[in-house]
Formats: sequence, C-alpha cells, structure tokens
Amino acid sequence: MSTERIEEFLSAVKNAFINGSLLRLKLGGYHGDEPDLKSIDVKKIVVKGGDKFSFTFHYKTRDIIKNQIQPEALGNLRIALTEEFRSAQLATTEFDMSFERNGDKVRLKRMEAAGREAPSTDHNRAKNRPLRETDKPYLLALGITGKDGVVRNDAQDKFRQINKMVEIFAPLIQAIEADKPRIVDMGAGKGYLDFALYDYLANVANRPAEVIGVELRDGLVKDGNNTAAASGFSDLTFVPGTIIDYDATGADAVIALHACDTATDDAIFKGITAGASLIAVAPCCHKQIRRQMEAGKPAGELHVLLRHGIFLERQAEMVTDTLRALLLEFSGYKTKVFEFVSDAHTPKNNLIVAEKDARTGRDRDAVLKQIAEVKAMFGVDKHYLEGLLGL
Ligand SMILES: C[S@@+](CC[C@H](N)C(=O)[O-])C[C@H]1O[C@@H](n2cnc3c(N)ncnc32)[C@H](O)[C@@H]1O
Repeated sequence: MSTERIEEFLSAVKNAFINGSLLRLKLGGYHGDEPDLKSIDVKKIVVKGGDKFSFTFHYKTRDIIKNQIQPEALGNLRIALTEEFRSAQLATTEFDMSFERNGDKVRLKRMEAAGREAPSTDHNRAKNRPLRETDKPYLLALGITGKDGVVRNDAQDKFRQINKMVEIFAPLIQAIEADKPRIVDMGAGKGYLDFALYDYLANVANRPAEVIGVELRDGLVKDGNNTAAASGFSDLTFVPGTIIDYDATGADAVIALHACDTATDDAIFKGITAGASLIAVAPCCHKQIRRQMEAGKPAGELHVLLRHGIFLERQAEMVTDTLRALLLEFSGYKTKVFEFVSDAHTPKNNLIVAEKDARTGRDRDAVLKQIAEVKAMFGVDKHYLEGLLGL
C-alpha cells in the first residue's frame, strides 16, 4: 500500500483546512461494511469552540452530519482512504487534487483550481444549519427571533439547540418508509421540536410529514395551534390531553423530549402499541426507580456506589433507561442511546432511539432474563413500563 501518497493527500487536506483554502473534499467508491453508505462530503466549519471538519455521510435514503476536530477527522480520513473509499476529490482555492486507489496502488493528480474565491466561514456556518431562513412567524412566536426576523442574541443557544434537534431527527424520519409519516410528539410543551421539524421537512427537505403535539396544558395547545395557522403549517396540530389517553393509532414516529418521569414510559408504551417505526425519548426525572432503589435491596457490593445521593440519582437514571432500552428490545425494536444536546443546555441529555427491528428469531427470553438480572442487582421491584406492557 502506498502510505506515502495517502499521507501526501492528507497533508494537502490538512494544509487547506489550516490556511482556510479548503472548499470541499468528496469521498467516493465506497466498499466498506456500512449498508447503504454511498459517499461522504467534507468541508470546514467554524463553530463555537473552534474550527471543525464537517462530514456529511450520504446514505441511500438519508444524510447524516458529523462534526469533528482536526486530529480525529484526519485519523478517520486516513482509515477511510486506506480501507474504505477508492476515490477522493479535493477542491481548494489554490489547486484541486484527485486520489485514486486501485488495490495497493495509489495515484494522485494535482490540477489547477479554476479561479475560486476563498470560502467565507460565516457563510459556511449559516449554510451548515438545517434551518437557514429565520424570518418565520413561529420563530418570532417562540421568542427566538425579533420582529426583524433575526435571531436574538439571548436566543442563539436555543436556536442552535433546535437546529441540532432537526439534525438528529430529520434523518430518522426520512428513513421511515411511509409517504407522509405521522409524527406524534408527546408532552410537546411550546412545540420547539414540532415547528422546527415540520418546517425543515416541508420546506427544506421536501419530505412533508404530519406532526401532532400532545400536551397537557391547554394554554400551550391554543398558542401552538394559533402559531401553526399563522405559519401556514396545515399538517401541524396540537391536541390537549394526557399521553396515556391519546389514541396513537397510525403513528409512524412517537417522540417525547423531557416528558416528566413516567410520562416518558407512557409515550414509549403508546409507540409500541401503535407499532411505530421509530420511538425516540429524552427522559427527564427518574423518580420511580430511584424510590425503589432506595427502598429495595441492591446487591451488597453496590452499597459503596449508591451511598452518595447524587450518585444514587445518576445510577437510577442509568438503570431506568437501561430497562427502557431492554423493554423496547423485548418489544421488537433495535435501540441506541446517545447524547443529543450539550449539557450546557440541560443535564437531561440522553436520547433513546428505537427503530423497529425487521429481524425475526430474536431471543426475547434472553432479554427478559437480562431485565430480571438488572432489577435484582439494583433492588428494583417493577419498572413502570413493565406494568404498562403487562409483564
Ligand atoms: C419539560 S416540558 C418539555 C417540552 C418539550 N417536549 C420540549 O422539549 O421543549 C414537559 C412537557 O410535557 C407536558 N406533560 C408532562 N406530563 C404529561 C402527560 N402525562 N401528558 C401530556 N403532557 C405532559 C408538560 O405539560 C410540559 O409541557
């Protein structure tokens, strides 16, 4: 393998990143293990805390964006060029370079750049956000922009946060097979997610969806419906009531962000019984299991780990969400858990994403056994979701 040429190409990418001349890098000819991955586009972005490489992974039916700092990005590019991609095209303001790998042979070709202007990082920053237009009635109603349609200084974090939500949820929704997926957001609050996701899917991604926000507080429901009407979002509605009483039949996706304590379980239960393709929850307080762990008899060796209140609280959070993930797996879903907003915004920042698992022959008894073991270890009598599922 011609590692020297790979290093020469990486060094050209690195220099272009550092001196601001990088326009884009495109990787093609993928032959790795990830199903449906087609190509990757790479560019430089300026975000709070420094410059980053922004990778857009193009899959058959969706795009996923990941931003990485320079050493991590270059390490991943080295692996990608050595093992996974046969071709790459680097475009800078000073020159272009192509990379072709055939077996162990690597060919580099350096060409003249066709008189391009240096990229503006501000421009890149705005372009990199899913919600590019800010002169929208819902952003004004939610207090994110002023009357001039510009994001207010004190709402920059909130705007970044809703963009992040769109970045996470849009590809998950786009992967759903339904022509016009029905998304039900349980405990919708003011509907930040609902407005942003609806706007993005209908007006940017051209993949309209029906969005329904279920919310206990009548005032929020009324405000949400007024703003949806003023925005012309005809398929976005807010309905009053409790999650457990809502008939979720026909939902393709059920989402609940920071719905309090066991309201998260109500949402998961509704998603499972509706047979939703996607269930995604960001749990909030975890009182139900904490109380049982305090009152129950966790395994003796855990005593030292649960002695301090704050650690007990964090363990209760992990045990609760581990059991939720297992109960989703038992119910026929593949689950993953990851951090979805920086904890600068909220310490409640775990997202459980469950997608319907098409595989048959899963060992449900083995999952039940794991659930029983976790409960026994932490002195948990019953998880509220188990009760809902009749277990
Ligand atoms: C912390 S807020 C989160 C709002 C929104 N999901 C967000 O992330 O911006 C929780 C919301 O869920 C609503 N809620 C809590 N329990 C509920 C239940 N059982 N049924 C319906 N709504 C509920 C509350 O009224 C509140 O507006």
